[in-house]
Amino acid sequence: MTAPEETIVPVDTESQRRLHESGLDYRIADMTVDADAEGFLRADARGFLDEDPTEAVVAQMRETMRERRNIGVYDESAGSWPIATVNSWVTPLTVPGGEIPMWAISSVTVSGTHRRRGIARALLEGELRAAASTGVPVAGLTVSEATIYSRYGFGSAVPVARVTIDTRRAGWTAEPTLGRVVYSDKQTLADDLETLHERSRTSRAGQVAGWRGRWQRMAGLAEGDKEAAEVRGIRYLDADGVVQGAMAYRLAEIPGAFRAELRIRTMQAATDEALRALWQFTVQHDLVDRAVVDLRPVDDPLPWLVADQRAVTTEVHDHGWLRVLDVPAALQARTYRASVDAVLRVEDVLGFADGVWRITVDAEGRTTVTATDADPQVTLGIVELSAAYAGGEPLSRLAAAGRVHGEDTAIAALSHAFSTDPAPVLGIWY
Ligand SMILES: CC(C)(COP(=O)(O)OP(=O)(O)OC[C@H]1O[C@@H](n2cnc3c(N)ncnc32)[C@H](O)[C@@H]1OP(=O)(O)O)[C@@H](O)C(=O)NCCC(=O)NCCS
Repeated sequence: MTAPEETIVPVDTESQRRLHESGLDYRIADMTVDADAEGFLRADARGFLDEDPTEAVVAQMRETMRERRNIGVYDESAGSWPIATVNSWVTPLTVPGGEIPMWAISSVTVSGTHRRRGIARALLEGELRAAASTGVPVAGLTVSEATIYSRYGFGSAVPVARVTIDTRRAGWTAEPTLGRVVYSDKQTLADDLETLHERSRTSRAGQVAGWRGRWQRMAGLAEGDKEAAEVRGIRYLDADGVVQGAMAYRLAEIPGAFRAELRIRTMQAATDEALRALWQFTVQHDLVDRAVVDLRPVDDPLPWLVADQRAVTTEVHDHGWLRVLDVPAALQARTYRASVDAVLRVEDVLGFADGVWRITVDAEGRTTVTATDADPQVTLGIVELSAAYAGGEPLSRLAAAGRVHGEDTAIAALSHAFSTDPAPVLGIWY
């Protein structure tokens, strides 16, 4: 297998120097070397409070990690595992009207013995500099805590919905679908999820590409997954027999009730009809009182498919975090809802996006973004620009929160131009 290009981007010399001054070695953890792979994966699991992985788990996860640029921070006096980990890879990010390369960051851990001495800061800043050095215009991550990453310029950009359905009262009112739902075995399920995600991820901003290990995990094929035996899968075939939807779920017993909660691990639908079929299967499942699913778009049609909208509880929460690194490249890569001509002052303490920028979108949708000496009409921080970038957070909302300043008309025009329909979503954790 050829290594993806980003995995051979050298480590950031500034972070290397800073950590070296504290006696730490910041280097690539080479997944082809047994000791590096095992140490990285076990330190990663410890950082996320997971069980120590078995050999089989390490072997399986190693396959995924081989596709990434893994960095460990090593303290000779603290054993052979790294005391901090991070990894990254470049993935397409769907934006309104297209795609852009995004530097995805994951596995950010610092050992409990080395916390709060600036190691995570060195890791994050190192990732951003590495991304910028290779010309990747945006970085992204999903987060364990919402208070960690704005200091590095990340904004909560793609909110999603956690949905709970009281299936006893929901009722089904949607028009009938023309295809059929069938159960699938786990391997078929993993294949369907992968194919359907790849087919549908360009239909909403905020999505990124998946990877093999993720679909295997969702389908109950991951080593060490204690719920694996309970995972079930279905697929939806349209009237022509084409697979257009798939869902991985499990049924958890509600104690003492002889009833179950249907927990959806993931649902993938390439058509509206397929999504309706998956929802119908869920809402009308026998012996189920409740169904729960996370990472749904905030404008999921579900409340309009049931008789009683109050049977659907939606909790919106942050999920996809983005960080613009290259303002012209990022803003020129997406389309806008309306033409606009505005001068923005972007404040970025880390320097990547700092400056005054003129964005012009003409009536044909042609967009130019250039540095300018003109007086800014709107001033915002990199967190706010990044939050608004994919169309998931209105600039007007950020202005109402006192986080975007300037001329009301310019803010309103930009807010409208940046907005997008359907709502962005990010259906996976990374
Ligand atoms: C989160 C974590 C990586 C931070 O590592 P760290 O090396 O202790 O962080 P640093 O010392 O570099 O701190 C950098 C800044 O982040 C802040 N910070 C650190 N951990 C934080 C947390 N959990 N919540 C909020 N802020 C945090 C620090 O106060 C510091 O703030 P400052 O810039 O204002 O001085 C580490 O606590 C950890 O591994 N946690 C468990 C795994 C995890 O949640 N990882 C994040 C995955 S998305």
